[in-house]
Parts: sequence; structure tokens; C-alpha cells
Amino acid sequence: MTLGSDGAAETNLDALFPQLRRFPDVEAANLQAWDATDRLLLDSAAEFLGPDSRPAVVGDRYGALTLGAITAGAPAPVRVHQDLITGELALRNNARTVGTGGGFEQLPLGSALLAGATVVLIQLPRSLAELEEIADAVARHAAPTVTVLAGGRVKHMSLGMNAVLARYFGDVQPQLARQKSRIVIARKPLPVSPATPFPITSANAALGLRICAHGAVFAGTDLDIGTRFLLEFLPQMPDAAHAVDLGCGTGILAAMYARSRPGSRVTATDRSAAAVDSARATAAANGLGDRIDVVQDDAMGSLPDSSADLILLNPPFHLESAVHSGAGLKLFEAAGRVLAPGGELWTVFNSHLQYRPALERLVGPTREIGRNPKFTVTASTRRSGAQAGVGWTPGP
Ligand SMILES: C[S@@+](CC[C@H](N)C(=O)[O-])C[C@H]1O[C@@H](n2cnc3c(N)ncnc32)[C@H](O)[C@@H]1O
Repeated sequence: MTLGSDGAAETNLDALFPQLRRFPDVEAANLQAWDATDRLLLDSAAEFLGPDSRPAVVGDRYGALTLGAITAGAPAPVRVHQDLITGELALRNNARTVGTGGGFEQLPLGSALLAGATVVLIQLPRSLAELEEIADAVARHAAPTVTVLAGGRVKHMSLGMNAVLARYFGDVQPQLARQKSRIVIARKPLPVSPATPFPITSANAALGLRICAHGAVFAGTDLDIGTRFLLEFLPQMPDAAHAVDLGCGTGILAAMYARSRPGSRVTATDRSAAAVDSARATAAANGLGDRIDVVQDDAMGSLPDSSADLILLNPPFHLESAVHSGAGLKLFEAAGRVLAPGGELWTVFNSHLQYRPALERLVGPTREIGRNPKFTVTASTRRSGAQAGVGWTPGP
């Protein structure tokens, strides 16, 4: 059963959820596009989604919350913020599949998303810093009467989350758990400082770099130890006309490379909005704003084939809470496409991950540059001739 073409709900969540896909995010049998928290949030929010409500959604993974709220009769537009461009695309794809012509608006975290919101549904993020930025934005912009329903899997929730919410709301009430999910209801937004503290900036003395971080970005203002190891080999990296920091996070690799190679053009790209906003801020804070192009993109989708001479990558190996190699392999395959023949992918990974056969297959001949007790750094040279990177299939 699908939603009617006029957007009217002709079905319920039992019919809606199985139609949802994660595409273009990695898909696999053990990964699905919705979870029990989506259902609990929607069931609990039903009484707040009346015709006079102004709903907003934060952290919708693939559209289950937004399309579920529309199904429940929430008035249009349901405003939604998703950090990942893959999630934004999945919501649009899923809306087409289930036949809603629209009824939602995808917006950055800020006033356009939250101004006057009377009910806010949140899939709780994993990091407290991300929750802090979301709570700050809701308290800053939503209606004083707002009801916030923040839900997560019990095993990923902590008392620290309640403490963060309590810094921004006068009334924070954890609810009973259902099917291993729980929601926390927050009301009575408290006054906030005149300017948002995000992105947070911190000086890294060892790198001589100011690092800027929005709440959702990998490692915050810290230097990841894998990235630190990769940077030990910066002097040995090739001089590239065009270098790409793939999965840039706060943009440390882009900034360090741009500074060390004044003749290079550098692109920093990530699928996360918080990451690209952070990388842009890091570039500006270090006087490199005119040297680094920052692009929000899934696996460099907008970069032409054979357009880069060097790609730097500290790959992800988590998908949500699951350790899953598909995320890294997808980026190796993308590197095989975007590197020019003879161009190099320099990457760092936990030595136990056995990425070398995949690098050989998806990019080309791979040599070890360095190894410490935890990490391996390799350089893979894009082979000439036929396009590298064919035949990627997600692993288990
Ligand atoms: C391990 S972090 C590294 C971040 C940063 N380069 C650093 O060294 O601190 C991996 C990054 O890859 C990004 N990422 C994951 N999948 C991606 C995809 N399909 N396209 C673009 N970026 C992706 C994540 O958002 C994350 O910022």
C-alpha cells in the first residue's frame, strides 16, 4: 500500500516502513532504513501533530520520521534537518517511492528549520557535542511552548544526554522504554547565550593549526590518532596539481596539505553538513579559505572522473553503530574513479582491517608507506588504461 498522490495518508507505519530504503547509502541485509525508535517517536508525537502544530524533525536517517509524520497527518511543511547528504537523498527517493508529492522542507540546523516549531522530533545523535548543538538550536529558535521528543536505542543512550538537555530545557522527562528504545521529553526552553558557540575552535599546538568543529563532526576539535599517523608522511606525499581530502571531517588533512604545497589546488569533501561547515571554518581560521574548495557530496559524486592527482583518506569504518567495511570500500572505489591514471590514494587504517586486497582491486598497485602498532599507511597508484574501481559490492 502507498500514500496517495495528493499526499494524503492512506496507510500506516506498518505499510510505510518496509518501503523505505537507505539508498544511496550503503545497503546490506543487516542494515535497515528505520528502527523501533522511529516508531516510538511517531507514536508518542501523534498527540502533538495536530492541524495547528508546526513540526520539525532533526536527525531523520532515511526519511522514516518525516514521511511517518506526514502519514500521521502533520501539517505541511514538515521541516527536517539531516546531517548526511545521503540521508537527504534517501528521504527524497523514499518520498517518491511512497508517492508523497512533497510536504517537507530540508533545511540546515538553524532558524529556518526551527523558528516557531511547536513540536520537534529528534533521533538522538551518538555524540553529546552533536546533541548540544541541536539542543542549543532548538532552545534558541523554537516556540516557547515547544515539546521536544528525543529518542534513541537504550544501549546508545546515557545520563549525559539528559544532562545536556537539562542545560537547555527547564523540564526534562525520560519516558519508559519500549522495544529497547526510549524517548526523553523536554519542554520549557531556557535562555541561551546571544551567539551560538558553534563551531567550536581550538588551537592544536603540535600542528600549528586552528581546528573548528560543529557538534556532529568526527573527532570534534581533536586530532584523530590515525590522521596524526598519516600526517607523519606529509613530506613524502607527491606534489599534486589537485589534491582531495576525502571524508574531510574538520578538514585537517586539507589544511595541512594546502599549507605544505602552496602550488596545489585542494578540495575537501564529506557527506556530512557538519563536516563541510567545519572544514570551511578550519580553512578560513588558518588563512587558507581561498586555497581549499569545500564540497558536500556522497563519495565525491560531483567530481569528474580522472580529475585528481592525489587523494588523502582516513576512511570511516562505522555505519551508525555497526562496524561495517562497506563505508570504506565505497570510498576506495570512488578514489579509483576520480584519480587520474598515475594519481595516488594515501590512506590510513587499523592494520587488522586487511584493506590491501580491496585497494589493489579498486585503485591499483598498493605499497606500504608506514606501520605502527595500530595503523598502516598505504599509497595506491591508480592504474592506467581501463577504469579502476569496478565491481564494488558491499561486504557482510
Ligand atoms: C574517520 S573520519 C575522518 C575525518 C577527517 N578526515 C579526519 O581525519 O579527522 C571519516 C569521514 O568520512 C566521512 N564519510 C563517510 N562516508 C562518506 C561518503 N560516502 N562520502 C563522503 N564522506 C564520507 C565521514 O562523514 C567522516 O567525516
